[in-house]
Order: sequence, then C-alpha cells, then structure tokens
Amino acid sequence: MHIPVLYQEIIAYLQPRSGGSYIDGTVGGGGHAKGILQASDPDGLLLAFDRDPEAISFARERLQEVGDRVTFVQASYGEMATLAPEYGFEQVDGILLDLGLSSRQLEDNERGFSFMQSGSLDMRFDQTRGNTAADLVNQLQEAEIAEILWRYGEMKNSRRIARAIVSARPINSTQQLTELVLRESGRSTKRRIHPATLVYQALRIAVNNELGELEKGLAASLALLATDGYLAIISFHSLEDRLVKQFIRQQSKECVCPPEQPICTCDTRPYLRAITRKVVRPSVAEITLNPRSRSARLRVAQKLAGGHA
Ligand SMILES: C[S@@+](CC[C@H](N)C(=O)[O-])C[C@H]1O[C@@H](n2cnc3c(N)ncnc32)[C@H](O)[C@@H]1O
Repeated sequence: MHIPVLYQEIIAYLQPRSGGSYIDGTVGGGGHAKGILQASDPDGLLLAFDRDPEAISFARERLQEVGDRVTFVQASYGEMATLAPEYGFEQVDGILLDLGLSSRQLEDNERGFSFMQSGSLDMRFDQTRGNTAADLVNQLQEAEIAEILWRYGEMKNSRRIARAIVSARPINSTQQLTELVLRESGRSTKRRIHPATLVYQALRIAVNNELGELEKGLAASLALLATDGYLAIISFHSLEDRLVKQFIRQQSKECVCPPEQPICTCDTRPYLRAITRKVVRPSVAEITLNPRSRSARLRVAQKLAGGHA
C-alpha cells in the first residue's frame, strides 16, 4: 500500500471544503484523494488523473464509497488544460501534483522502476504506449544516452556509463543494467546514494518526459485555478523542485522590468502568491514511519485575482 506523503500538510494547505472542486493530477493509490474527498464532504468534487491504468483501477476501487464525487481520467496531468473543462472542471479550488511513482509501481518488478529488483526494463507510467527504457538504452546513440544521464541524472560519469551501455547491448533486464552501472562506477565508501539511483532516475524522466509534463501541468494550473485556489506540488528530486520553485517565483513577480530601469513600466500583475516561503519537508516522525518520504519537498502557491503578464 502506498502511504501518502505529507498528508496532513496537503489537507491543511488545500483546505478542501464542501462545494469546492479539486484536481488530483497524480491520484496513484488514492490516499490524498480520499483525504480531499473526506474534507470536502458532502459535495466537494474531484477530478483524478493518472497516467497508469492500473493506478486508476486501484484508486477507483479504493474510493468506491465516494464514487459519485470523483471522476477518473487515465491521462497525463500535462493534458489537464484541455481535458479538465471537458469533464466540467473549468475553475477549481485546488490542484495537487504528487510527482514521481507510487510504492505499488516501485515494488512491481514487471514495471522496471527499481534497481533493487530483477525485472524487465520498462519504466513507462502508461504501459500501453511509448518507448520503454529498454528501447532507449538499446536504440539511442551513445551521445544521446550520455545526454540523458547528464541532464536528468546530473551524473559526472555519464559518458563512461553510456559507453558501457552501448558495448553491453542488448540490455533487457534491470539486473543487467544495475550490474553494469555498479561495475563502471567502481566502489566508493563515501558515496551517499547507490550509483544506479541516478541512472534509473534519468531513464525514467526521459521515458515519461517527466519534466516536459511538469512544465505543461504548471502552466495549465494557472488557467484552471479559481481566484484564491491553491496549487500544491510534492517533488522528489532537485530537477523537479527547481522547476517548481522557478515557476512559482516567476509567476509571483510583481515587476519584470530590467533591473537597471528606474521606474516600473511593465504593468505586471502576478498570477500567484507563494504560500510556502521555504520548501516544506516531512518531519522526522514521518520519515521514520515512511522512509520513502525522506526526499519529498512541498511547495504551495495561491492564485491571485486578475493576474496577467
Ligand atoms: C507518488 S504517486 C501518487 C500517490 C498519491 N498521491 C496517493 O496518495 O496515493 C505518483 C503517481 O503519479 C502518476 N504519474 C506520474 N506522472 C504522471 C503524469 N504526468 N500524469 C498523471 N499521472 C502521473 C504515477 O503513475 C503515480 O501513480
């Protein structure tokens, strides 16, 4: 079972209320969704997205008792600008994006998300479409693989790993990839994280175009949030968090004139107000209970009236 991360914080920040409407862009195991529906009882509405058909059927089952207040959409939250209005969600009071993957996905060795399990090298959130991680490692040019490892894993030895991958082709299992990465990275007692962590992170981001979807989802939230509505994003690595932080900073600027200009002429009205001045992290108690929450970082912003740039 996936334990929802920063659960109390999400409910406290989103302040779900009866009569409100909400979007959960990443419904996963339905933990946060359940909390939003309970807090907005008796007639709050939720539109729940997930790219993974299995997550959708799991969440549907779990949320059966409030079934008539939740609508499920098997699609990327990156598409919500066009999809949400089709389901009658044009202006919503809160949007949640809990990025990354659920424990169910991580523990399923057929999905290939975990370097600790032996399985097929897939890594797609939606297994019905798109290229798998095996397609990428077996078909891309060495330089393209190195670029993925460098950009999405921020790996210093990206070229070396890419070279080793290309000479070991075909690579079809997680075990094969993990062993190769360990062999190439050498042994270091100083290392804080397993070298395969970054390779898996990089491939997963590339397979699912995760940063591109996040950019689209953030932009969509500006159009979909009603005035005073809240946007809450939980990210799990620095590339995502950087994007979220910069987005909130950019959209809450009151002036975008060049710094050397003495008087403001830009007439900018910000779309957002940052609610969390600093990133919110799980408490020690939460990390003890749920070690997977340790890298979670939450940022929240509120939609302002009449924003434009
Ligand atoms: C961390 S889990 C969400 C857990 C959920 N908040 C809960 O309480 O159970 C992340 C989920 O997001 C989904 N996901 C990842 N990228 C997505 C995207 N671009 N659009 C929709 N869902 C996505 C994954 O399939 C996964 O089920």
